Amino acid sequence: MDHEKIIIPAALVECLRAAKSVAVLTGAGISAESGLPTFRDAMTGLWANFRPEDLATARAFERDPALVWKWYAWRRDMAATATPNPGHYALTAIEKRVPEFTLLTQNVDGLHQLAGSCDVVELHGSIMRSRCFREGTVVGDSDALSGDPPRCPACRGPLRPDVVWFGENLPADALNRAAVATQECDLFISIGTSGMVEPAASLLRLAAEAGAHTAVINVERIANVAPGTVQVIGPSGSVLPALVAAAWPG
Ligand code: OAD
Repeated sequence: MDHEKIIIPAALVECLRAAKSVAVLTGAGISAESGLPTFRDAMTGLWANFRPEDLATARAFERDPALVWKWYAWRRDMAATATPNPGHYALTAIEKRVPEFTLLTQNVDGLHQLAGSCDVVELHGSIMRSRCFREGTVVGDSDALSGDPPRCPACRGPLRPDVVWFGENLPADALNRAAVATQECDLFISIGTSGMVEPAASLLRLAAEAGAHTAVINVERIANVAPGTVQVIGPSGSVLPALVAAAWPG
């Protein structure tokens, strides 16, 4: 889609230009235009017969570590060859222009970091790292490891991806930073997330209750958003560059 044709609501442009503090929450949709399937789309093809709970839980890993490791290895291989798209880059442009900017992501693909976002709050961890299933020790660079799953160099226990699984707590520091940003921002923008998974799903509403302006950017309309939320329907790889161009022309 040509981003010249996307209409960005003037109220959102004004809010962004005037904001002293902006918080952004991204989900898998922002990486869709980099060729990565969204979380729910990733349950297709080879993996169509599985539900997320069959693959993204500690119990599933205990039951069949090779299966779970292979699902993540498949996603990691795709992420490793993907490149950021104009949506990721537009967020780096916003970060440079607003006094306070917090980027909260549910994505585990590392594309915000690759685009140059300085300080990414990883709510769900990173698929590029692994950690010991027994002891929690983090082992970097999953690519360099072999085995389904590879073994911890220290205790020989199985390694798991360093991501948050269903039923697990989010990293406390990431959650704290999300809470602070949500409370203190003037504008909260939720991008490319279905808003189905807590606690990330509540952040937009909490920001609205704390007095922030709220906006959603998604290819489809999201139901039950906080009252007053501006919804821009379109791919984030087009909407975000158009938003930046409208807020800071030239
Ligand atoms: P989902 O797969 O649930 O939702 C992706 C969203 O992106 C949908 O609302 C799509 O409409 C939207 N979308 C698709 N393409 C888009 C585009 N080009 N531009 C804008 N929006 C687009 O992924 P998430 O919401 O990220 O957690 O899922 C949240 C969490 O659920 C994941 O992090 C994962 C899963 O449980 C864990 O693994 C803990």
